[in-house]
Order: sequence, then C-alpha cells, then structure tokens
Amino acid sequence: MLIHSHMDKSNIVTCTAPVNIAVIKYWGKRNEELILPINSSLSVTLHQDQLKTTTTVATSRSFQEDRIWLNGKEEDINHPRIQSCLREIRRLARKRRSDGDPGFDLTSLSHKVHICSVNNFPTAAGLASSAAGFACLVYTLAQVFGIEGELSGIARQGSGSACRSMYGGFVQWIMGQKDDGKDSLAQQVEPETHWPELRILVLVASAERKPIGSTSGMQTSVQTSCLLKHRAESVVPGRMVEMTEAVQRKDFAAFAELTMKDSNQFHATCLDTYPPIFYLNNVSQQVISLVHRYNRHHGETRAAYTFDAGPNAVIFILQQHVPEFVQAVQHFFPPESNGGQFIKGLPVNHAALSEELKRAIGLEPMPKGISYIISTKAGPGPCVVEDPAQHLLGSDGLPKKTA
Ligand code: DP6
Repeated sequence: MLIHSHMDKSNIVTCTAPVNIAVIKYWGKRNEELILPINSSLSVTLHQDQLKTTTTVATSRSFQEDRIWLNGKEEDINHPRIQSCLREIRRLARKRRSDGDPGFDLTSLSHKVHICSVNNFPTAAGLASSAAGFACLVYTLAQVFGIEGELSGIARQGSGSACRSMYGGFVQWIMGQKDDGKDSLAQQVEPETHWPELRILVLVASAERKPIGSTSGMQTSVQTSCLLKHRAESVVPGRMVEMTEAVQRKDFAAFAELTMKDSNQFHATCLDTYPPIFYLNNVSQQVISLVHRYNRHHGETRAAYTFDAGPNAVIFILQQHVPEFVQAVQHFFPPESNGGQFIKGLPVNHAALSEELKRAIGLEPMPKGISYIISTKAGPGPCVVEDPAQHLLGSDGLPKKTA
C-alpha cells in the first residue's frame, strides 16, 4: 500500500478564535444534548491579541483514525461534545456534496482528521477556554471541509457559550423556541469597531482550588433554584432589550449597571442552588467593594465587574479611566514585588492615586490577591491564519514539537 506521508496544501488549515465574556449570563439548559439554554445571553468578544485559541486541522488518506491534541496532550476524540461538532460538520459537508456544489472537493470527506489546539493563555487563569476552543474547532473544521454560512448552531453543541465566540464585537445568543434547536443561534449586535473607548481588564485571582464546572453547576441550579426559573422567565427578557440598547447607544453607565446586576443575580442563583455553589471568594468580594466605592467617589458609574464560574473579575471601563483604576487595584491588591509583570496586554499609562480616593475606598489591602491583570478590548471573531509556518501539525500529521 502506498502511504502518502505529505499532505496536500489544501488539506491543512489553521484558525484562531476568541474568548467572550457574558454581560447577560447564560446559566441553565432546557436540553442537555443539544445545549439549548433557558434564556438568551449577550457577550463581548475579547481581542485575540491578548486571548485566543489556535487550532490546526489536517485531513489525509493516510490517517488511520480521528485524533485530537489539546495544549500538547492527546485527548479522547470520543468526547461526546467533540463528536457532536465533528458529526454536524461532516453532515453539512455531505449535504453540500449531494446538493451538487461543483466547487466541492470530494476527497477529504472520507478522510480522518487530526486536530491540534493550543491556548495563548494559561488554563489555570480560569478563563472560558471551552468557548474559544469549540468556536475554533468548528470554524477550522468548516474551513477544511469547505463549509460556509451559519456555524454558531454547531459551536453551541460543543459548549453553549462557544456559539457567541463565532462573532466579534457584541454578540447575542438568542435562546430560540424550537425543540430541535435550529433557532438557538448567535448573532452580532454591533461589530468590534463600534465602541473603541471600551476597555476590558481581566483580574486574574491567585490560583485556588478548581471550582465546580459550569455544565454540572447549571444542571443543579435548573433542578433546584426557583430564583433561576424566575430570572430566566421574568428578568432576562427585559434585560436583553435594555442591554442591546445600552450597547447601541454606547451608554456606559447603563451598560455597566446592567452588567453588574446580571452578574450578581447569576451568583445569587448559585447561592439559591441546593446544595449552594460559591464561585466568588474574598478577593472577588473585595473587587466588588472596590468598584462600588470607586464609582461612589466619582459620583458616576465608571467601572463595572462581572464574574463567571470562578473568582476572576472582568472589569469594563472607558479608556480614560483605566490608569487611575489600575493604580487603585494595585494599591489594594499589592502584587508580589519579585513577580513578573502585573499588567499584561494593552499598555496602561501610569497615574497618581490621590489620597482622597484611597481614603474613599478605604479597604484593607490584600497582598497578592490578584496575580496579574490582562488589559484588552473588544475584538473580531474567528480568523484563518494564512502563514503555513503557524500550522500546529507537521507534514507527518503530528503536533510540531512547539505545539
Ligand atoms: C457562567 O458554556 O461553559 O460563563 O454549555 O455546559 O459548556 P456548557 O457551559 P458553558 O457555560 C458558561 C457559563 C457562564 C456564563 C456565560 O458565559 O454566559
């Protein structure tokens, strides 16, 4: 048998996809298998210069089986959510072939795939790596199989929040009504260029024990929390409208207040879950106090926090206020003096911290509570990487030593 050891150029594609952070939270499914939510949600896509997943997919007739490597380690390709994404992409590819698309390359459909994926941020940072990961997987598979058009419905079947990472800027995931989930899709509300002054600071809380995962956490919440039911039915629909309008008007105060209230309500539903789930720790609580005291001192809402299923705060703030706010964070969470850089990502100018502001905040400093800050902004959706040197798989179809 003739084994082709080198792959055709068209059979290898590398793409990148972003992380997103919800300002109206998704929490709770009405269908576990299809990943259909009990409420709509809205997020901001973070810039890939700071946080991204990179994925290479290759197909070759010489591959014996589908395989996947994540952050340097081979993982089980039979994971049900990976299988859902592969199955749906292959289904679309077959459909395109049977629809008789003349431009369609028939060969790769029967071939096995090798998938290699890495994050440019530590998984330990507790950032939603599954959203970027599944968005990148689905986007890259679609490129390899020559599929265009709506893909968020497939990314959703990898991880709910992944469907929102299929677009840049401000994105809503419309919950949909249908039982088959065909109308449960993500949609861009505004592109990443819409609000250039908006900055996003990820405050990475010092590593702690791993909190309970979103998938099982929200399952218990759906089963036990009547506050969650109330939230999904009677609170979120109105907030989706208000949030969309606040984004469209670039009304920071309205955007910020809704963001904080929705994060707080999500964590209240966690406390209402039985047994209760705690994602916020004492660092998170200190960040919440700091933001409210900072806003009160200035007599306006200048900063907003939001927290997902972990203790890291994500702060929204306008560019002009970033230097002073970062100084305040540094003052009340004094970093390790011999540690690395405290601020990563977009550069932050130095600012003086007034005694009045320090006094107005008046918290007891928590040394090393925050290990570092990632400074970023809204960014674009998934992209194809054109440079072949960036492929994570070598010509033998195995991860390059650096991947
Ligand atoms: C708190 O998308 O990780 O981050 O659909 O089970 O994979 P699965 O859950 P996941 O949940 C994200 C929950 C959240 C809020 C949000 O991103 O909207």
